[in-house]
Amino acid sequence: MNPQVHYPSYKDLDPFIDVDRLRALDGYVAERIERRLQKARDLAFYTGPFLLDGKAPHLPGSRLIYLTKSKEQENYYDLDRTDLWERSEEAELFPDLMDFIATLPFRATGRMIIMYDDSGRAVSAHKDHDSPELCHEFIWFRTSLRKPFYMLNPETGEKLHVSSNAAWFDTVNQYHGADASGGLSFSIRVDGIFTDAFRRQIPFPAENRSSAPSLWAAEESHIPA
Ligand SMILES: [Fe+2]
Repeated sequence: MNPQVHYPSYKDLDPFIDVDRLRALDGYVAERIERRLQKARDLAFYTGPFLLDGKAPHLPGSRLIYLTKSKEQENYYDLDRTDLWERSEEAELFPDLMDFIATLPFRATGRMIIMYDDSGRAVSAHKDHDSPELCHEFIWFRTSLRKPFYMLNPETGEKLHVSSNAAWFDTVNQYHGADASGGLSFSIRVDGIFTDAFRRQIPFPAENRSSAPSLWAAEESHIPA
């Protein structure tokens, strides 16, 4: 591991996105989720097998709305196989959100999900997968700062709450989760392939590629004042 990298950490992506436009979508997305709650039972969010606390719930209560659907059976390792993913029927409910997503620095996009919980329950701390060389290029974002989302170093127990609207983070060498918030909470994650211009700014390490967001975050904090 690069000695510069520290956990918990995340790369704040607010400087790379249109935060005002994103925040303006808050009521729009919330209202459409509420409407959907009355009609459909969305797929439950599964944390995956890599929980910090083996007794914590794998199905913490959050639900997923897929804005894109895979042509094949979903496999976690296909998130960024952009040729497999096509816009879903659900995406038709969120045209303004889809227009916003089109402004993000992706050359191509794969899986896109809205993760929501109408009663803001906690999301158990988990890792997304256990392949350190697999670095998913994604943008996690939210229209408000309501969802108390954090990164956690399992060795020290140190927790770091995300304070930005948008972030990219290491999903393998640290844990992430959410505290309970009461009320509707939601966030969006878009996976894909970053544009070349965006990629050029990222210090991808030769080893443990999944730590790239944390290495990038460390570089930023070492810029002399
Ligand atoms: Fe996750």
